Amino acid sequence: MTHRNLVVLTGAGVSAESGVPTFRASDGLWCGHRVEEVATPEGYAADPALVQDFYNQRRRQLAEVHPNAAHLALAELAARWEGDFLLVTQNVDDLHDRAHERVLPAPGFELIHMHGELLKGRCTRSGVVSRWTGDMAAHEPSPDHPDGRIRPHIVWFGEMSLRMDRIDRALSACDLFVSIGTSGNVYPAAGFVQQARHAGARTVEINLEPTLGRSMFDEGVYGPATRTVPEFFAGL
Ligand code: OAD
Repeated sequence: MTHRNLVVLTGAGVSAESGVPTFRASDGLWCGHRVEEVATPEGYAADPALVQDFYNQRRRQLAEVHPNAAHLALAELAARWEGDFLLVTQNVDDLHDRAHERVLPAPGFELIHMHGELLKGRCTRSGVVSRWTGDMAAHEPSPDHPDGRIRPHIVWFGEMSLRMDRIDRALSACDLFVSIGTSGNVYPAAGFVQQARHAGARTVEINLEPTLGRSMFDEGVYGPATRTVPEFFAGL
């Protein structure tokens, strides 16, 4: 079977073997914090120092991790894919970006960080997004607006995911949809498989183990992403 229009969705599982922790650990906490404390606009308003410190730590950790075989297999696929290939990640790390720096992608390729990026900051007043590699202070002043502050460019709970128009268009035209290393707990990403099915696409889940949404996919491939992702795409 040949495919032309590919959409791949990735989640925390694709970066797990690089040493980036996933979200849904069995203790229900995200690196020791309740999600409401560190991943909501209300949490930021209540305690900006705590929230900035949380993301400062994650941003610093990026210097210690590297793309793994799954990121690299997707980058190599992007270089040789002849149709449209939209890679949508829920991850805020830059491991896909770094993998794609090593191999020039084909013209039909695009990468979207639908939940934002740790290495970007956003002005709370102007909305201007800029690259940000260092720490952010609790009340980091914005160069773009006298009353603005710089906050992490991260989509928090209660906020809209980014670039949804572009993602919806790709899903409605795709003939292969592959979901990698995501628990399927968070919408709208959890609904992508249904959109792809509606478009008539072949749908595949790649994960360490079957997720609760397994029955929505045509096929499942199970095992660590560093093995399963290169194998699956080599066999296409
Ligand atoms: P989760 O932590 O919910 O799920 C991680 C998934 O990766 C699980 O299904 C694991 O089985 C799988 N997994 C773990 N290690 C793996 C490996 N080595 N190979 C393959 N699969 C593996 O993370 P996400 O689904 O990405 O949102 O979470 C979605 C969103 O929830 C995140 O983007 C974040 C969070 O709240 C925001 O920050 C807005």
